[in-house]
Amino acid sequence: MDLREAIYTRRAVRAYAPQPLDRKLLDDLVDAAIQAPSAVNEQAWAFCILQDQALLTRISDASKAHLLAHAASERHLHEMADNPDFQIFYHAPALILILSTHRGAWAVENCALAAQNLMLAARGAGLGSCWIGLAQRWLDTPEGRAAVGIPDSWLPVAPIIVGYPSAPAPAVARKPPEVSWIG
Ligand SMILES: Cc1cc2nc3c(=O)[nH]c(=O)nc-3n(C[C@H](O)[C@H](O)[C@H](O)COP(=O)(O)O)c2cc1C
Repeated sequence: MDLREAIYTRRAVRAYAPQPLDRKLLDDLVDAAIQAPSAVNEQAWAFCILQDQALLTRISDASKAHLLAHAASERHLHEMADNPDFQIFYHAPALILILSTHRGAWAVENCALAAQNLMLAARGAGLGSCWIGLAQRWLDTPEGRAAVGIPDSWLPVAPIIVGYPSAPAPAVARKPPEVSWIG
């Protein structure tokens, strides 16, 4: 698949086959991620790959409880978090958590660029992916760090689920961009 096709056909996939992913495939996604640019070429990222479904459900439950306690004013978040049948990872077979190995300047930018590379590479490999922001807040608590073994000085940035799609994901229309032409 060429780059343009990958960019234009990547979708947030929210329905997965339970089929586990080969180690080589996951290694290849991480390798694509680290080809991203990084500020001052610091490459200050790390990857945590979780495939234990019991642990993923535990993280989902804890993230929902955290959202209910801390995001009460955001109604759509509250509704999702309050639904006992909703697993925030959509039962994907794997979660690749991209972390910054420091909490300083450019931490989020570096990891977000790695995440986009990873999601496009997943698309190219016939996989679906989705950034799961709902997991971010709890993973950055003392309990979340302990659950996944995240050092205090690191910042969890991009929890990305990956797996084989079990159904086609509908395209989401883009709004016309606001573009200013100066000069
Ligand atoms: C930072 C970020 C956080 C996101 N968090 C979630 C999430 O928690 N759950 C979810 O289902 N989708 C999440 N998404 C996916 C977006 O909803 C999705 O990318 C958007 O609706 C556009 O659809 P598309 O990716 O298919 O083009 C997130 C995307 C980004 C970039």
